[in-house]
Amino acid sequence: MAACQGGPLRGAGGKEKLCAGQTHCTTAHISYPTDERLHSLVKTFGRDHAEAVWDACKSAADHIRRTVCQEEIDCELTHVPAYLYAASDAEKDEADSLREDARLATETGFDARFIPQCPITQQPAVHFSNLMKFHPTKYVRGLAQAAQKLGAQIHEDSEVWEFDAEKRTVRCGRHHISYQQVFIATHVPLQGAASMLSSTLLQTKLAGYTTYAVEAELAEEIVPEALWWDTADPYFYFRIDKVDGRARIIAGGEDHKTGQEEDTDGKYAALEQRVQKLFPSARFLRRWSGQVIETVDGLPYIGEYAGQFVATGFSGTGMTFGTLSGIMFAEHAQGIASPWKDLFRIERKELSSTWSYLKENKDYPYYLTKSLFMGNNRQPEELAPGEGAILRLHGKKVAASKDKDGKLTLLSAICPHMGCVVGWNHADQTWDCPCHGSTFTAQGKVVNGPAEAPLEPVDPNKQATEHVWPAPALGM
Ligand code: FES
Repeated sequence: MAACQGGPLRGAGGKEKLCAGQTHCTTAHISYPTDERLHSLVKTFGRDHAEAVWDACKSAADHIRRTVCQEEIDCELTHVPAYLYAASDAEKDEADSLREDARLATETGFDARFIPQCPITQQPAVHFSNLMKFHPTKYVRGLAQAAQKLGAQIHEDSEVWEFDAEKRTVRCGRHHISYQQVFIATHVPLQGAASMLSSTLLQTKLAGYTTYAVEAELAEEIVPEALWWDTADPYFYFRIDKVDGRARIIAGGEDHKTGQEEDTDGKYAALEQRVQKLFPSARFLRRWSGQVIETVDGLPYIGEYAGQFVATGFSGTGMTFGTLSGIMFAEHAQGIASPWKDLFRIERKELSSTWSYLKENKDYPYYLTKSLFMGNNRQPEELAPGEGAILRLHGKKVAASKDKDGKLTLLSAICPHMGCVVGWNHADQTWDCPCHGSTFTAQGKVVNGPAEAPLEPVDPNKQATEHVWPAPALGM
């Protein structure tokens, strides 16, 4: 992940900078409509709860707007119209479900209306007149500077190695730091030696999905800047920005469960094709991927769990739910009861979510068993530049890859989280774990957890015994 743009903060000098997680990958729609459609939220949680979810998101969006004004943060914050539109291959009655969403939104006090045709895609849509977009890393940099003015200390290059909930300490390199409150804002929760069981249980409620994004310059005279996303699953989304008087599009989608797609290059190609269909003049400038964390019932988990304040599972609404988590942690630390505490509680249980719960977790035993048979007998030298593969060397599964200059890297293929075998992501040149979505650089460094340790380097000349992990006892 790229570092936050702008001046260095305390501890600068290494690669672990502010925004070095997923924040710089976001396409930064600031939105109170959630990924889970309103009619579906109403069906699952009831009308009051559904309304409370949108209220919470609206409060977070308002908080961003207020903070930007108060702190005069130059982050291109813009109020824009937005369109949730029927996917081109949607069922005929999609217009009715959009009409229903618009009706529910209006009745619960949100500014939305059904329109038979939205700009650009010409599809039936729900029109929201006042959502927002911004430049996410410029915003976080401004936020950090404002916090520092108030006395906050921000330490970069300070990775936490160990977390002890009982002693209330974290280990950071050679240092042990005591704390009163700890807020785990690490995309997926840290494991921590003292709460291995708890965090493993929490992990079974989460699933990591890789999402792709492309940016292109457009020659077309595009009307107003706005946000669009469709009703497909996974959905296609885009925003139009004006940069120096020219229109640019940032589009995303083609999500899949991390580590479970072989043709990752094809995902970018599919995305570019969709953009080109809408805007034949599109001249592509950049492409990148990120990861979103999905939960069993579509709502994030925000709250105290096993001695940590955890915030995760933001789905595609990361900027909004991330801000909401900050608000809720501040309330928690001050002993203030948050109106949304029960709504996003980690231990909430919905009977109707049993099916998804099983669906997400059945992948883990499946991939773990499949792992036993993986690996082929090619020699590492046979790999082409840019290629990666699981090979068997001295009876051990090795993640072998060659960079574009032909330099070979050999790593253990066993994910240090819970023992699945990683797979090569050609488009991003990363190793991705199909079980819970950890990703690693080609050199083995953790990009996204839940894994907290790197893939170990392998000496090709050494015989080694492979660690065998116990089969997981998932009684769900
Ligand atoms: S992410 Fe859990 S085993 Fe790899």
